Amino acid sequence: MTTSLHDLLKGGLPTGATVAFRADFNVPLASGTVADGARIERTLPSIVQLVEAGARVVLLSHLGRPGGTIVPELTLRPVSRFVDGCLPAPVRFIPHTAGPAVREAVAKMPRGSVSLVENTRFLPGETDNDPVLAADWATWSDHYVLDAFGTAHRAHASTDGLPRAVRAKGGEAVAGGLVERELAVLGQVLESPARPHVAILGGAKISGKIQIIEALLPRVDVLLVGGAMANTFFLAMGLGTGASLVEADATGTASRLLVEAGPRLVLPVDCVVARSTEPGAQTRIVDRSGILPGEIVVDIGPATVELFRDCITRASTVVWNGPMGLFEVGGFEEGTFGVARAAAHAAGSGATVIVGGGDSAAAARAAGVASRLSHISTGGGACLDLLAGKALPGVEALSGSRDRGERT
Ligand code: 3PG
Repeated sequence: MTTSLHDLLKGGLPTGATVAFRADFNVPLASGTVADGARIERTLPSIVQLVEAGARVVLLSHLGRPGGTIVPELTLRPVSRFVDGCLPAPVRFIPHTAGPAVREAVAKMPRGSVSLVENTRFLPGETDNDPVLAADWATWSDHYVLDAFGTAHRAHASTDGLPRAVRAKGGEAVAGGLVERELAVLGQVLESPARPHVAILGGAKISGKIQIIEALLPRVDVLLVGGAMANTFFLAMGLGTGASLVEADATGTASRLLVEAGPRLVLPVDCVVARSTEPGAQTRIVDRSGILPGEIVVDIGPATVELFRDCITRASTVVWNGPMGLFEVGGFEEGTFGVARAAAHAAGSGATVIVGGGDSAAAARAAGVASRLSHISTGGGACLDLLAGKALPGVEALSGSRDRGERT
């Protein structure tokens, strides 16, 4: 059983202990400010608990994929301002990710204070899970909290190396409140989902989700596939896909999955197509076999919405990850919103409805149904990996987890 922040605080944290707190502040920014702080807000209670316990809390997070180099647009400074505005304690931004400058800044932190270091992915050692980087952070960390559920599927220095290094020096590496809740809710769906169990997958690519599709298929009763991902299946079926986004090199895999899944894999029967993806572009609704050269699939069609709605509203467990089309573009949102409304209807009838991934969560909010769903996960890939039965490296690295930190 993974140790939690509650366990750590129950044991009495020595006042002034320094806690490395891995959050997932990978949030959308617009004009230098946080455009959607939902992910940040969900982690605040754990930070507040630590502050109230007198800890010195050092927040670590990535933002985007800068590739191990400093990308000024991906600085965490705007996030620091946002967090500062949400917490009773002031948040100090440390414009360095690791090394002596961070060590010195942390050494000067008063009890019950909060600092945020610069984007962990500005250093290549983060995604390389470099033990030297992890050891550097561990020099000032008495304990470690993982509250970055959205990044728990990454074995990076801040999610894997650091908690192991903290434990090696006698500290605790624990799950924060957000991670604890995600594991409890998703674990229940994983272990004993009420049936019928329906999964809805959308988004652009199947290549990144092939393993997930393979792992989900034996667990669910129906897998509904929409979004550009469906185009690759169309191509594998020999259908025309016009100028739509497809992954030509994944058609072999798509063909195999179609055979393996049989009727459990349900694809759109009709689509909304347009000749451009500009807002307000003229659209037409076509049977999936009627996509013309030059046309782009921008949404699932109304017959598909009906088909999907029928499956979703009969389900007792629904897991949804990925939009059905370019819902963020005006005029292409009806399919995604239809799925969101069906999911809310199912939740209202007693089904457990879990939404994972920033895009699907944003779609649920835009459709006005977010508050009616059972759980909006802060993880996209992490949520899917967990529901597909895969171990999350970030969770495995915590105190009390299954492998007891012995993995190297
Ligand atoms: C996410 O937004 O899904 C997480 O922050 C992980 O980001 P990543 O896919 O770039 O690792």
